[in-house]
Parts: sequence; C-alpha cells; structure tokens
Amino acid sequence: MTDRYAVIGNPIAQSKSPLIHSAFAQVTGQDIHYTQLLSPLDAFVQTVDAFRAAGGRGMNVTAPFKLDAFAYATDLAPSAQMAGAVNAMKFEGGRVYAENFDGVGLVRDLVHNLVTPLKGRRILILGAGGATRGALLPLLNQAPDLVVIVNRTVAKAQELSTLAQLHGSLPIQAMGYSDLQDQAFDVVINATSASFASALPPLTTAAFAPGCMAYEMAYGKGLTPFLQLAQQAGVTHLADGVGMLAEQAAEAFAWWRGVRPETAAVIAQLTIPLI
Ligand code: ATR
Repeated sequence: MTDRYAVIGNPIAQSKSPLIHSAFAQVTGQDIHYTQLLSPLDAFVQTVDAFRAAGGRGMNVTAPFKLDAFAYATDLAPSAQMAGAVNAMKFEGGRVYAENFDGVGLVRDLVHNLVTPLKGRRILILGAGGATRGALLPLLNQAPDLVVIVNRTVAKAQELSTLAQLHGSLPIQAMGYSDLQDQAFDVVINATSASFASALPPLTTAAFAPGCMAYEMAYGKGLTPFLQLAQQAGVTHLADGVGMLAEQAAEAFAWWRGVRPETAAVIAQLTIPLI
C-alpha cells in the first residue's frame, strides 16, 4: 500500500509542501502519497489521530499548529526541544517522533546552496520569535565568530541567548537595535515577521559589512523592505527563504524515507525573482 504523508495547518492552501514532496518522491522513486490537511483550529489532535488511524506515516506541521505538535509528540528530538516547536512528525506504532528541521534547512541553504560559509563569520539575526529560536543552535554549530540576536523587545532576545548558553559557552549576544551602533556583520538574517506586514525592522545600512549576505527567511515576497535596505547598503548577495523551505523538506523526506533528494530542481521551480 502507498505510504501516506500530509502537511497540516490552517489555512493550508498556500502550502508548497505537497508539490515539494511529490517532486522528491518522483526523483527518488519513492512510492508515497502526500496531501494537504486542513485542521479545524480546535481539533488538531482529532485530525492527526484520524490521519494516523487511516495509515498516515508522517506529517509536516505549519502554522498555527507547531506548538500543538510539540505537545502531541511522544519523542522530541533535541532540535524540536530547542526550537520549542515541531515541524515534522513520524508515526511508528504508538510513538510520535518529532523534529524541527527549519534551522538545519536554513544552514544547509546558506552553506551549501548559497556557498556562504559561517565558520569564523559574524552573524546578525533579527527577531527573537520561534524562527530565531529554531535557527540558533544550527547556526552556532557552524562555529561562527559571533551570533548577535537583535530584537525590539530586548528581554526576548536575552531569553533566547540564555537558552542557547545552556548548551555550552557559545559566542552569542542579545541586544536592542539601538545597541548595534555601527557594528557590521558578514551574514544578516531577517527572522522577524515584519516582512509579512511589509514593515522594516529598525536596522541601519551600517549592519551590512562589505561582501555581506542578506537573508530573508520569508519566502516569495520579492524584495522585502529588509532586502531593499540591504541593497541600499550595496549588498549584492540577497536571498529569500525558498532554499530553506526546500532544505527543511528534504531533511524530513530523508528522515521518513531514508533517502535524501536533490533540492536544486525544486528550488528553481519555486524561486520567485527578487525584484
Ligand atoms: P515567529 O514564530 O514567526 O518567529 P513570533 O514568535 O510572533 O513569530 O515573533 C515575531 C518576531 O518578529 C518578534 O521577534 C518580533 O519582535 P518583538 O518581539 O519585539 O515583538 C519581530 N517583529 C515583528 N514585527 C516587527 C517589526 N515591524 N520590526 C521589528 N521586529 C518585528
């Protein structure tokens, strides 16, 4: 019987996961069926239970259910624990294994696809919500010189820094935008939700060092105010989150199926030019 997988969310029509996983299945020759699953906001558990009862083998999880999935899981991987959220589940008997591949997807996109080594580099990450929380340890694992979390609400940035420090003595700092002064960074990542409101975090062009990579985690929004600011600063290496999306999906696919698909074709298909 064909193994069933799904992405669960509300809304869900916008999700690219079915397209991505179907393409991966085709290139790897895996016999899977991957669908969208719209869950009522108050019925996550019932919806997942029903999917499992019907033979579902795994799921991706998108907004607003990443915390529900965290609570639903029986076995949380360290990545999910650190992120405080789950974006992929695997069902085996009564167990629900849970992962969060967003951070490793981001790092894989930067290092592998965009050829931006992070070792010894100075990284600035904007925002201190779930997106930053998931990215922190994978970024720090690359042995950067420094990771600065900058946030409007400084206490939230400090909380994340403290959380990361539980994993060792790591080169991480937390601050507000005005504390950045004229510090410049080799990689600047926008992990705020500002782009969804076409807003610009209160960053200045001074943050972008010559040769810097400006990375917008949001996907498909063209030249967001953040990327426009980077352009004004003379940055030529600009990227949005399409590669991160494809890479986190490839990680989930490999976890489920034991074979890691190439992502280049999917990234090319989904890329919306940054204009
Ligand atoms: P997510 O889980 O997607 O990261 P979140 O937890 O709601 O979303 O976090 C959103 C982040 O974007 C926060 O760090 C928020 O800053 P505050 O904590 O100070 O609210 C940040 N953010 C949202 N809009 C912003 C804006 N216009 N300028 C700067 N930061 C913004």
